Amino acid sequence: MNPDRPIGIFDSGIGGLTVAKSIKNVLPNEQLIYFGDTVHMPYGDKSADAIRYYCLRISKFLLEQNCKMIVIACNSASSAAYDVLLDFFEGKVFFVNVVDPLVEEVKRKNLHNVGVIATKATIHSSIYKTKIKAINQKIKVSQLATPLLAPMIEEGFYTGNIANSVIENYLNNPELEGIEALLLACTHYPLIKKDIEAFYHHKILVLDSTDVVSKTVKDILEKENLLAQKPMDQDIFYVSDYTTSFEESARMFYGNSIHLEAKTL
Ligand code: DGL
Repeated sequence: MNPDRPIGIFDSGIGGLTVAKSIKNVLPNEQLIYFGDTVHMPYGDKSADAIRYYCLRISKFLLEQNCKMIVIACNSASSAAYDVLLDFFEGKVFFVNVVDPLVEEVKRKNLHNVGVIATKATIHSSIYKTKIKAINQKIKVSQLATPLLAPMIEEGFYTGNIANSVIENYLNNPELEGIEALLLACTHYPLIKKDIEAFYHHKILVLDSTDVVSKTVKDILEKENLLAQKPMDQDIFYVSDYTTSFEESARMFYGNSIHLEAKTL
């Protein structure tokens, strides 16, 4: 496989840009081809079958773009579709999901009592609980669906009173009492990480998937001798439905340099 090929990254919308940004920071030579499925977002409220169907189509598109690796930068998609994508595209491309690197952190940090907040799709799949219990059955895993957070962040409410009162409302849930760490199991949530840490007065560990996922991407490409050796072409950011409001939100997630292009699959 040619190391000059791009890395594909996709999400239901623009939340996955938090992961794309981290990958770009760690691997500046790589060309990224991002696909945000804004026609179908939020994935968090969809059935697993619908999410799988969207993911198969997007992955097929990213393969047509010659991607050497596809990063599923969405927890809802990772929990519903990762296994299906591995089977369907076996041997054709490397897939990285956003769940396993975060679960690996629970093991690495030797945590025993963790909370997980995410969309309904991710929580109903119980993927974090299952994978963490597989490390050690004794680890306590408390899960809470927090469906208002992703749309709230996308609308630009990621600091201030409104954000803080929604965050407080969710995190005061008795389900999360006594946790030593909270996993932000949605790629939108890094934008409210500071508010969440402040809610807990910095007394518990708050973990998100951005840096652990980009490290995983780097490790795999390094191991497979697939790291781009010189700066590649410009990154491309596709969305299945383009609006100026998505463009504005994308800047908030990625930075001012971003420009979205419409792409119907
Ligand atoms: N970014 C998605 C995730 O990580 C959540 C947004 C959505 O529901 O589409 O699950």
